[in-house]
Amino acid sequence: MTLLKNIFAALRAYALTLLDAVVALFSLIATTARALVAGKGTLKERLIGALTRPSSLIEIFAIFRAVLPNFVIGKQLITSYENNGTAFVLRATDVIEVLDREEDFAVVYEPKMRAITGGANFFLGMQNTAQYQHDTSLMKLAMRRDDVEALVTPLARARAEAYASAFPKRIDVPQELTLRVPAAIVSDYFGVSAQAETDAIQWATSLFWWLFVDLKGEPAIETKALMAAADLRAAIDAAIEARKASGDKKDDVLGRALELQKGAPEFDDIAIRDNLIGLVIGAIPTISKASVQALDQLLDRPEALAGAHAAAVAGDEALLGAYLFEALRFNPVNPVIYRRANRSTVIAANTFRARKIPEGAMVLASNLSAMFDPLQIDKPNEFRVDRPWGNYILWGYGMHTCFGAYINRAVIPAILRPVLARPNLRRAAGAAGQIDVSTPFPQHFVVESD
Ligand code: HEM
Repeated sequence: MTLLKNIFAALRAYALTLLDAVVALFSLIATTARALVAGKGTLKERLIGALTRPSSLIEIFAIFRAVLPNFVIGKQLITSYENNGTAFVLRATDVIEVLDREEDFAVVYEPKMRAITGGANFFLGMQNTAQYQHDTSLMKLAMRRDDVEALVTPLARARAEAYASAFPKRIDVPQELTLRVPAAIVSDYFGVSAQAETDAIQWATSLFWWLFVDLKGEPAIETKALMAAADLRAAIDAAIEARKASGDKKDDVLGRALELQKGAPEFDDIAIRDNLIGLVIGAIPTISKASVQALDQLLDRPEALAGAHAAAVAGDEALLGAYLFEALRFNPVNPVIYRRANRSTVIAANTFRARKIPEGAMVLASNLSAMFDPLQIDKPNEFRVDRPWGNYILWGYGMHTCFGAYINRAVIPAILRPVLARPNLRRAAGAAGQIDVSTPFPQHFVVESD
């Protein structure tokens, strides 16, 4: 009986995946045909445009999950970090396996982290070492979980209200709101202020771009990032020096880090600076991009937009968050998380999709694909606000799960609430009302209301 049940369950799982793939294939053909006929630019540009939009990626992943869920190619798609080929991992359980097997699939960022700090590694560039545990433990004492409710969310709420109210009917969301609020968190909560708000935004964006998005290793991006790194180091050094000279005992991340030096002398000023650099880079472009992309997805779905509007008007940030994080599932900040195989090994062992991953291969574990895997996610193509939080992989998974995870969850609804509460919220006409994709980080996206 159990054997029969297992066989039935396996057949059902495969049928679900196959059905999902067939629907995706027809939809992809239709979208591509429409783009080729009606789109702008050369045929090649139209094709690339059509196939790289998030909804198409979701469909492409659905097709591959049915026929080739894990595969390895000899080509190096990422050339900015050493590797000898590329592995794709698309099923939810396998994505989670890669991110859980931290010993075998390691983070690659160390050389760039050292270039940014001018010496030491930062914990996102470390494996599970004593140094990783040391640094994250100290930083968790400096950046406490209960700060999210007590300090960070009230700060984000107040700033979002103030910034948005200056543009009551038409607002360029990144410039006037979503970049500014995390910049305020960096200055008022981390305790790292640049001379100008725009400096912190530019440094963090250049550095994030070079570290995580510049997959080809463009020299111009590197040069700009290394200049930003020097400026950011100098700004944090100056903030530490000024704080010490003033004798001010401010209860923020920097103030607490300086207090911790008393019991942990190895946590010297340079170590504090290097850890703060990592937090600053992580905080600004990501929160802004996530907010913009979530809003963009909502604007494509009138019913969901109406629900989010009602939650915003009622001041229900938890429900508003449910709308926003579901929206972000359809276009998360990063569609894949990458790791390098430390040794030759097998993933999804003892299954028909088991695949050998050669040592040195770059493994692209797709969190976007995982969040649409029908074997893990109930009716993944539906927009729903009742999904369990564990369905979402919006900011990493496993040991390196985002250090700001709790901040993100609280702050993104607080940032967007004033805009989503507006009546008849809509895109501005023309290109202004579409996310500006001239860089990987939206700089402009204009919405209007009555
Ligand atoms: C919506 C906004 C954010 C997104 C989408 C995001 C995304 C991510 C992702 C995908 C990772 C894992 C990278 C990997 O495993 O290779 C990560 C880790 C990290 N993030 Fe975020 N992040 C966000 C906000 C923040 C904020 C606000 C901070 C600072 C408070 C931050 C600091 C970090 C740090 C320090 C790590 C490394 C954690 C570790 O190695 O243990 N991030 N983030």
